[in-house]
Amino acid sequence: MTQTLKAVRGTRDLLPPETALWNRIEAVARQVFARYNFGEIRTPIFEETGLFARSVGEETDIVSKEMYTWEDRARAQSEKSQYLTLRPENTAGVVRAYIEHKLGETGQLQKLYYIGPQFRRERPQKGRYRQFWQIGAEVIGPPSAGSESPLRDAEVLEMLAMLLDELGITGWTLELNSVGSSADRERYNQALREALIPLAPKMCADCQRRAVTNPLRVLDCKVPEDQPIIATLPAIADSLDDASRTHFAQVTAALDAAGVPYKLNHRLVRGLDYYTRTTFEFTHGGLGAQNALLGGGRYDGLSEALGGPKAPGIGFAIGLDRLVLTLQAQEQTLLETIYITTPSNAYIAPLGEAQDGPALALARELRKSGLRVELGDGRFRLKKSLEIANKLAWRIVILGEDEVKSGILTVKNFLTGVQSKVTREELCAHLMKPPGELEA
Ligand code: HAM
Repeated sequence: MTQTLKAVRGTRDLLPPETALWNRIEAVARQVFARYNFGEIRTPIFEETGLFARSVGEETDIVSKEMYTWEDRARAQSEKSQYLTLRPENTAGVVRAYIEHKLGETGQLQKLYYIGPQFRRERPQKGRYRQFWQIGAEVIGPPSAGSESPLRDAEVLEMLAMLLDELGITGWTLELNSVGSSADRERYNQALREALIPLAPKMCADCQRRAVTNPLRVLDCKVPEDQPIIATLPAIADSLDDASRTHFAQVTAALDAAGVPYKLNHRLVRGLDYYTRTTFEFTHGGLGAQNALLGGGRYDGLSEALGGPKAPGIGFAIGLDRLVLTLQAQEQTLLETIYITTPSNAYIAPLGEAQDGPALALARELRKSGLRVELGDGRFRLKKSLEIANKLAWRIVILGEDEVKSGILTVKNFLTGVQSKVTREELCAHLMKPPGELEA
């Protein structure tokens, strides 16, 4: 017996009616981004492997364990083979594009958003997939355009609060931290390295390696036995210099002024190496173990690390799959379900194959006028058409030979049970009437 094919582990099909919810979320996000003057960027789904190694960081879980990488063999003598990777996140691609298209030369802040799939070979579970979707945005530009300003951080966070509120997500928590400048992080890494000398031998193999190569990443460790040790390590707040402290104080002051609530979390260092200063996550209790709805932060040195000009930036990415899970768990999704399952305006039932053509023409006309129409099949008996139509539409339009000749159609309203004769000219207006209204 041949084995049935299934979607690859960690990937899934999104089907209607759920996709209507995805579309609504994306539409609300686009509207909110437009209000803040963000434009859309679409970068390729795969990039050179080196881009992610240099930005996200060799020692991160993402780069060391989770990337889908392959050797893309040369197809001609003039080509070289190269290593390519399915993007595990989108910030690196955006900054690569910023550099490649010299967007910094405009002298202005670039405010860019993206919506698209990302790929990480993680262990799949609820809220964690190997192909998942992100809605993200980045604000990046030369320092002269104000890209380092703490007001940009606060504005991005305020925009996220606005977006989650407009989507109807209730009960989110904004967790906020500062990981300082690269010099602060160097100092912190040093403090961690020293603190880890006596502790690392008691920890997992990954931590033992990271204690030497990139001690900050020890804080990402998920091994339960290591957690009590990690809790004793120094906090990054103690390694921040005055400039970083002031920057962070200004971010929180602006959030206070705007009334955006947050919680300080000094352990929030995030699992990507490019962050500097402000880092954040919005969490939601309803998500279980994978409780981060979104994450982001500042990356003031990333452009230079990729060979570009100085271009500080800040951004975030929302896990769209997790947003959908959260909304589905909320009561308000009931409304969504009602919306999604709203019947079509009309079901057109051709009586006999000869009426198929005229029925398609009529459906085309009504759909052009903006009506939602289901087209039946001339091979169905009227009884069958009525049964199907009753499930899918408010009204059925019966199209037999007589109706086509006379131009007078039979319309039945399933809600009131009333059957009426309607001329073709009046049909569109008739079908637009609320189905509950009594009609002649
Ligand atoms: P991240 O924290 O790696 O950050 O991912 C952002 C969000 O994507 C997470 O909070 C989560 O909601 C979602 N996510 C991540 N992995 C998965 C997965 N396997 N399945 C489902 N959802 C997932 C970034 O990606 C940064 N590029 C964000 C950023 C933009 N920082 C600055 N600008």
